[in-house]
Amino acid sequence: ADRLPRITVFGTGYLGATHAVAMAQLGFDVTGVDTDLAKVEALAAGKVPFYEPGLPELLEATLATGRLRFTTDAATAVANAEVHFVCVGTPQMKTSHAADLRFVEAATTAVARAMTHDGVIVGKSTVPVGTAARLREIVAREVAPGVAAELVWNPEFLREGKAVDDTLHPDRVVVGGASPAAEALLRTVYAQPIAEGSPFVVTDLPTAELVKVSANAFLATKISFVNAIAQVCEAAGADVTVLADAIGHDVRIGRQFLDAGLGFGGGCLPKDIRALMHRAGELGAHRAVALMQQVDEINMGQRAAVVDHAVEACGGSVLNRRIGVLGAAFKPHTDDVRDSPALNVAAALHLRGAQVTVYDPQAGDTARATFPSLTYATSAEEAVEGTDVVLLLTEWEEFLRADPTQLAERTRTPRLIDARGKLDTDAWRAAGWTTRTLGRAA
Ligand code: UDX
Repeated sequence: ADRLPRITVFGTGYLGATHAVAMAQLGFDVTGVDTDLAKVEALAAGKVPFYEPGLPELLEATLATGRLRFTTDAATAVANAEVHFVCVGTPQMKTSHAADLRFVEAATTAVARAMTHDGVIVGKSTVPVGTAARLREIVAREVAPGVAAELVWNPEFLREGKAVDDTLHPDRVVVGGASPAAEALLRTVYAQPIAEGSPFVVTDLPTAELVKVSANAFLATKISFVNAIAQVCEAAGADVTVLADAIGHDVRIGRQFLDAGLGFGGGCLPKDIRALMHRAGELGAHRAVALMQQVDEINMGQRAAVVDHAVEACGGSVLNRRIGVLGAAFKPHTDDVRDSPALNVAAALHLRGAQVTVYDPQAGDTARATFPSLTYATSAEEAVEGTDVVLLLTEWEEFLRADPTQLAERTRTPRLIDARGKLDTDAWRAAGWTTRTLGRAA
């Protein structure tokens, strides 16, 4: 009776693949399930189909234990497990701000239909509040008579680039809507993080769903707040970095997520605030809608501001000017270019007729697949060759360590826009560059 619960993980993207590997690492028997055969075959062969530091090593190690496997066969996987995690994506709809719930519904239906014995379905995907209640109706409808299937919500907070660590050592574990038996099961699943001190928060379904969404909305708000203040700083001749350090000393404020610059992107923050906007609107919570609209607008305004700075640096038009872009990923330590501010700015300048050359240490291939019309370089030196202006758009360490003297020699005019406020601009100026930093006076 003390046997560890066996686990399935539906969806093997960033969230699911990391969760499956982490659970196997914690000693559980885990089957990762996906409808995408190519993904399943890659993972089964020990290959992670995206860049995530530490994950390939852990995948290899856990596959070797025999506790972890990947399959497209949902029925067999579900028949051999008791805890079923739903980790599929909830992308933004093409035609609105709403989240597309097709994949969550399909995965939940697949699990419910395949269940041959009692079990718990654990939603991890980021969903609009109210989704889990609807999924419960699907489960009730689809599950075979005599099988008890309970659906609970357990949001995931992992950051790309730190996914493994965030999964094994979460800041908190939140479980919504669980019966005492399901709660006990999840306490077993998360026994190690709980023993290490991760708070275990027990709540209802809607609160659990909203915890995730509001955590991301708050982080987005912090970034847009500092970017709004950065605009004041620029106009007033103040320095937003020093300001952020100073206000960040107040523990109620905290220094993290107060880096002014190009703003937030990626697969989560932008779509999550838009989905919240949409859902809050449906629920008549208009103050939340208004706040999220401002957060989104300020954020998108940062991209426009960087484009404007580049145009200004080129004397009013970028037509046929050479622009070197350092960074394409939405942040360092990932090859993810979903809603990447960097790639967005590069594409906007390309559309205005500039000759844009992009270099990113990891995201070159994913960027090329998204925007094939840009030129891609294989080094920073190559990207700045013959340029009129260079933009630092993703703050990879490689760029922070680069030698400004060597780079200056490759340009036509050594002119830099630091859109992340992370370069030692004094050193760049000493090397002959003119520099412009978002959030500091020109
Ligand atoms: C985010 C949340 O942090 C994570 O908890 C949630 O589970 C998923 O969404 P992630 O999308 O991986 O994680 O990226 P994050 O590290 O939060 O960065 C988001 C964006 O904000 C990046 O584009 C980054 O460049 C930007 N950012 C971050 C800033 O512009 N300024 C900051 O101070 C911090």
